[in-house]
Amino acid sequence: MATEQKPAYSPGLAGVVAGETEICWVDPNAGLMYRGYDIHKLAEEASFEEVAHLLIKGELPNFEQLGKFTRAIAAERTLPKQVLDVLRLMPKNTHPMDMLRTGVSMLAPFDVDLNDNSHEANVRKAIRLIAKVSTLITDGYRIQHGEEPLPEKSDLTLAGNFFYKLNGEVPQAWQIRMMDTIFILYADHEFNASTFAARVTASTLADMYAAVTSACGTLKGPLHGGANEESMKMLEEIKTPDRAEKWMMDALAQKKKIMGFGHRVYKKGDSRVPIMREIGRDLGKRVGKEQWVPICEQLEATMEREKQLCANVDLYAAPVFTMFGFDPALNTPIFAASRVAGWCAHVIEQHDHNRLIRPRSLYTGPELRPYPGTPHNGAPAKR
Ligand SMILES: CC(C)(COP(=O)(O)OP(=O)(O)OC[C@H]1O[C@@H](n2cnc3c(N)ncnc32)[C@H](O)[C@@H]1OP(=O)(O)O)[C@@H](O)C(=O)NCCC(=O)NCCS
Repeated sequence: MATEQKPAYSPGLAGVVAGETEICWVDPNAGLMYRGYDIHKLAEEASFEEVAHLLIKGELPNFEQLGKFTRAIAAERTLPKQVLDVLRLMPKNTHPMDMLRTGVSMLAPFDVDLNDNSHEANVRKAIRLIAKVSTLITDGYRIQHGEEPLPEKSDLTLAGNFFYKLNGEVPQAWQIRMMDTIFILYADHEFNASTFAARVTASTLADMYAAVTSACGTLKGPLHGGANEESMKMLEEIKTPDRAEKWMMDALAQKKKIMGFGHRVYKKGDSRVPIMREIGRDLGKRVGKEQWVPICEQLEATMEREKQLCANVDLYAAPVFTMFGFDPALNTPIFAASRVAGWCAHVIEQHDHNRLIRPRSLYTGPELRPYPGTPHNGAPAKR
C-alpha cells in the first residue's frame, strides 16, 4: 500500500486552529470577547438584539439602527402554518431539541433567500432565524403540552417575548434584564462544537438553514449544550448544600463525568460563570430558592480540590432556568435561542471567505489485503 507521511494529529482536534474568525475570542485565562468587546460589560448593559447586531453586522448599532434591527427581528417571529402543523404531529415525548432541529430544517423552503449565499441574503436569513428559533421553542413547547401558542407581544424584545411566550406572564423589567444577560452570555463562543458543525456544513456552500440544522443536532449532546439539562438532574438529586461534597466524592470515585464541569479551552475558569452565579444568587433571593447556588459552590470547591477542574456556565445556568420556571428539558433550547445569533454570524463569515473544511483522518485499519472472492454456488470463499 502506498504510504504517506503521517500528519500531525490531535485527538478531538484539541488545540488545533481550524480557521480564522473576527467574531469572538475565548481567552483560556477566563476571558471572552465579541468583536473586541468584553462580554462582562455587554452582559451588564446591552440588549440581546444589540449583541446580535454586533455579531451579525460587525458593529454595535446606534440608537436608530438598534430600533430598526429589533423591529426587523420582531417582524419575523411568526411561523408558517405548515411548520406549526408538523410540530403538532410530533409525538408528545419528542425532546424540544429534536422539535427545534426538525423545525429549523422545515423552515428552509419557506425562505425566499434560501439558496442565495450572498452576504446581504445571509443577513436577511440570520434575522429570520434568530426570530423563528425562539418561536419554534416557545410554540413547540406549548403545543407539546396541549396548549395553543400565545400571540407575539411585539412591544417586547426577543428575550422578554421568549419569557412571556413560555411562562404566559409579561416579565418585569428585572426579569427582562436577566434574560438579556443570559442570552448575551450564550450568544457565541468561537469554534465550539455546534458552531464548528455549522461552519463545516456552510463550507460546502450548503445554505444557512442546513448549517443551523447541523448546529442544533450538535448542540443537543450532553458534552456540549445538553450539559445544562443534565446538570439540573444532578442538582435535584443533591437537594441541599450539605450533601454536595459527598455526592461529588462518590461520583468521582465511580469515575463519572460531572456535567457542568470542565472545558476544552478554559482551564482557569469560565468567563461566564461569575455573571451566571450572581444571577443565580439574586434570583434565588427573589424566588425563595437559595439552595442552588451554595450547592454549586460546594461542588466547585470539591472539584477544584480533587481534580483542579473548573465549573462551566452550564452548572449555574441550569438552576437559573429552573428558578425562572422553565422546564429543564428547555435548558438546551434556551441556549440555542441565543447561540443561533453566533451560528448565523459564523455562517456569514464562512460564506464570505469560504474554503471547504475537509481535514484528514489517521488510518488505523488493516494493511492492504487481497479480496477473497464472492461466495457463490453454496461454496463460500474462505473468510
Ligand atoms: C467539556 C469537556 C467535554 C471537555 O473535554 P476535554 O477537553 O476532552 O477534557 P480534558 O481533556 O480537559 O479532560 C481532562 C481530564 O479531566 C477529566 N474531566 C474533564 N471533564 C470532567 C468532568 N466534567 N467530570 C469529571 N472528569 C472530567 C477527563 O476525564 C480527563 O481525565 P483523565 O486525564 O483522567 O482522562 C469535558 O470537560 C466534559 O465532558 N464536561 C462535562 C460536560 C459539560 O459540562 N459540557 C459543557 C461544556 S461548556
